[in-house]
Amino acid sequence: MGLQITHTPVLSRIVYSVRSSNSRIRSPSSELVMKWFLFFVLAIGQGLCASTANSVSGYNYYRLPTSLKPQKYYLRILTLLDNPDELRFTGTVKIVIEALENTRNITLHSKNLTIDDSEITLRLISGKGTRDICVSSTSVNPVHDFYILNTCEELLAGNVYKLSLPFSADLSRQLIGYYRSSYIDPDANVTRWLSATQFEPASARKAFPCFDEPAYKASFVVTLGYHKKFTGLSNMPVKETKPHEYLPDYIWTYFEESVPMSTYLVAYSVNDFANKPSTLPNGALFRTWARPNAIDQCDFAAEFGPRVLQYYEQFFGIKYPLPKIDQMAVPDFSAGAMENWGLVNYRESTLLFSENHSSLADKQDLAIVIAHELAHQWFGNLVTMKWWTDLWLNEGFATYVASLGVEDIHPEWNSKDRGSLYAIVTAFRLDSLISSHPISRPIQMVTEIEESFDSISYQKGSSVLRMMHLFMGEDAFRSGVKSYLQLYTYKNAEQDNLWESLTQAAHKTGALPTNYEIKTIMDSWTLQTGYPMVNVTRDYTAGTAKLSQERYLRNTEISRAQCVGCWWIPLSFTTQNEKDFGNTAPKAWMECTRTGESIPKSIQDLPGPDQWVIFNNQLSTPYKVNYDTQNWKLLIKTLNSEDFRKIHVMNRAQLIDDVLYFAWTGEQDYETALQVTDYLQRERDLLPWRSAFNNLKLLNRILRQTPNFVFFKRYIKKLLSPIYEDLNGINDTFSSLQHQDQILLKTTVVDWACQYQVSDCVPRARSHFRSWQSEPNPDENNPIPVNFRSAVYCAAIKYGTDEDWEFLWARYKNSNVGSEKQTILSTLGCSREVWILQRYLERSFNPKGGIRKQDSSLTFQSVASREAGVLLAKKYLTDNVDLIHKYYYPQTRSMSRLFSQISEQIITTSDLNGFRAFVTNSRQYLKGLNQAIQQSLEIMLTNVQWMKRNYHQFSVSIQQHL
Ligand code: BES
Ligand code: ZN
Repeated sequence: MGLQITHTPVLSRIVYSVRSSNSRIRSPSSELVMKWFLFFVLAIGQGLCASTANSVSGYNYYRLPTSLKPQKYYLRILTLLDNPDELRFTGTVKIVIEALENTRNITLHSKNLTIDDSEITLRLISGKGTRDICVSSTSVNPVHDFYILNTCEELLAGNVYKLSLPFSADLSRQLIGYYRSSYIDPDANVTRWLSATQFEPASARKAFPCFDEPAYKASFVVTLGYHKKFTGLSNMPVKETKPHEYLPDYIWTYFEESVPMSTYLVAYSVNDFANKPSTLPNGALFRTWARPNAIDQCDFAAEFGPRVLQYYEQFFGIKYPLPKIDQMAVPDFSAGAMENWGLVNYRESTLLFSENHSSLADKQDLAIVIAHELAHQWFGNLVTMKWWTDLWLNEGFATYVASLGVEDIHPEWNSKDRGSLYAIVTAFRLDSLISSHPISRPIQMVTEIEESFDSISYQKGSSVLRMMHLFMGEDAFRSGVKSYLQLYTYKNAEQDNLWESLTQAAHKTGALPTNYEIKTIMDSWTLQTGYPMVNVTRDYTAGTAKLSQERYLRNTEISRAQCVGCWWIPLSFTTQNEKDFGNTAPKAWMECTRTGESIPKSIQDLPGPDQWVIFNNQLSTPYKVNYDTQNWKLLIKTLNSEDFRKIHVMNRAQLIDDVLYFAWTGEQDYETALQVTDYLQRERDLLPWRSAFNNLKLLNRILRQTPNFVFFKRYIKKLLSPIYEDLNGINDTFSSLQHQDQILLKTTVVDWACQYQVSDCVPRARSHFRSWQSEPNPDENNPIPVNFRSAVYCAAIKYGTDEDWEFLWARYKNSNVGSEKQTILSTLGCSREVWILQRYLERSFNPKGGIRKQDSSLTFQSVASREAGVLLAKKYLTDNVDLIHKYYYPQTRSMSRLFSQISEQIITTSDLNGFRAFVTNSRQYLKGLNQAIQQSLEIMLTNVQWMKRNYHQFSVSIQQHL
């Protein structure tokens, strides 16, 4: 009897019961029971089917029961790639299970798998002699993806059992579980198929029945069967290969047994890729895999990967534990990359590099992605979070130490500061919303896990780790991290375990006063939503300052009293005389009472009224600082003088970001803010410009819909013109630039200059484009300097003809380079032709449209972010939400990306209400997107507030600065 756990209506057989036969259940809350009930009511109401099981078990808590523990999986999978109409896999999993408590059932995860339950076997394998145990019935719980085997006799604590389950399914068409991918072989002009896995966070259960929670670590013995023309890859090296028993030309490849690991890190692939081995003295075998036709783009990854791996071995003091590591570019890949232990998967655009077609920014992005995934081999793979609540321990750490790794190997890129600034300003943006969430976040549903892969886990997580690194100092931080990793190797941990190790290290080295605990400090950053704004009020005659803190909120209609919070803040500062920005060790702390109230702080020995002070050297802690009027005046004076460089570049970026936030919400006026931004006419460093663009972009998106845009435009031109001229505009003078940072700066400045029609930017961009069009073989030869391509394509498409668009589309179709394809897709939306944009939107969600599913959110954003496209994109989304939902289901993370560009451009109450109505009417298609929707609605609301409060004042002020 086949048991298809998918969509066949057998509703009448659903048995609803909340009594569990399990020996140890964590009682399901009544709320959860209610949710489940509602699920069925809704499912029934819509004529949907939820299950085809013999019965639905009553065990309805979202976590697996704890009575059993898997020790080892023998996983055997046959992958059939010959017939494109029937791309499938079949397999058997044998799980060695230890009973920790007596139980009458085995509950594990399985989703969308066909399991022939007549073939299931269970054996007792410990103690004297082995024997079979019968399974009386099976059932499923579709809400939590449980597959439950009821046993004829009680399984006893201390015994070990071996469960064998056969399963099969189609290779998924979504980019999740065990799925299909393909590419066109240009020589033969045929489609080549391959298979790949993406299991994080909860999709191993779609590939084989398993205990699919991160704390159930076990070792895996994988065997892959496939046609001998392919290569099989998995986490571990190949042990041996044997012919298949009866399928001609098929083979079985046996892989070595893995170390203990979580299910979400298991990976395998059957493909016909080529590989490039790296050479690393005394290191693991390191190979980089790609389509044969792209193997020449692997050089950078093959060189950089082993170097950063070696850096981590030293940094963490622990050797990479597996005998090999493969990194593979998968043509269809949903995330940016995935850290599977020993077999790391990437998008082509995040692994492959072409000297002729990829920019410096592309190259740096590759390095950061590779460094991030390889950092996970320790943070995540070796030591794993106990539960998804602490996902940030994986993602925050990988993000932070990646910037250290890249900095070590390419110091000339200045990646550490750039990464730190990016992390902090990105976290500031999202975390200023009431709809943000704490770094450490309770998780119950799979959709909630997916929602956690956001800027809070990554960017805020990495910012608070950097904060700790800077206030503890190098030695204490490293030794705390090392001992944490050593203590929890092959185990699971939660954030308190990390705090413990770090406190010990900090006390040992004297990096932290003994009456301070890392946990007290860090809980205020990881368990609370938001971040503080510190108000500094100086007494210029007494030479003192009073400091108070409150949460910074973008939404000004929320009463501040409702949102009290207190953060433990390490206070570093410097003065105009000292300019000691290098010292990031705290001179004092802002503390909180036991009940979480903030204790105001006084600082002594500050200079007189002719000198500024700046708090938070190098932006080492994620908080904002507002000063009294006099201090802002002093800062503005220095910024607008030749001395501006004496303020650290990170703090220049901080002053811009802070003052523009304060002006937005009314803590400062726009007159003050514009006096700060005026100094940008002198600024020649990348980071302050990044900070400025990041904020000006938001103003641009509002103002370009208003009559007073004319003034804003003129102001931006005024700021940009000097640097545009200085960097030699859109002329290819890259080779004369001293610092790599300047290349990125020039790229960004040209991008903005063309957007704002500064000087000759647009005509020169168009002539660059024309020279490409006149190339006899434009797919081979592109004369446009790589670092300008984005700006040039966008300007050429915006001011160009239908033919220009078709030309660029043809280059996209013919390009063999992932990053070039991305650049093109993100600029094709620059068109101002309604019909072209509409066609582009439709292609994005049409499986035959020529755009891979992984790229559809990029193309959508390309249209939605621009003034001509935003209304079309919004209409497309609201009219086709059912279709889009179906296109992505169940990968809600992809769908959540469609909202942000639109929300930044909604500025009226009626449009906001319109969007609210859409959300209400489309509830069924927006499940699992709750967080993204709430955040979008709040952004729209803050725009509406901005218009009401600031539009007039801003328009008056900006005219004074032209
Ligand atoms: N572990 C993630 C991959 C992932 C993301 C799995 C979301 C499931 C859901 C991986 O390490 C990662 O963080 N990838 C990033 C790119 C990275 C370089 C910041 C991604 O995919 O966005
Ligand atoms: Zn990651």
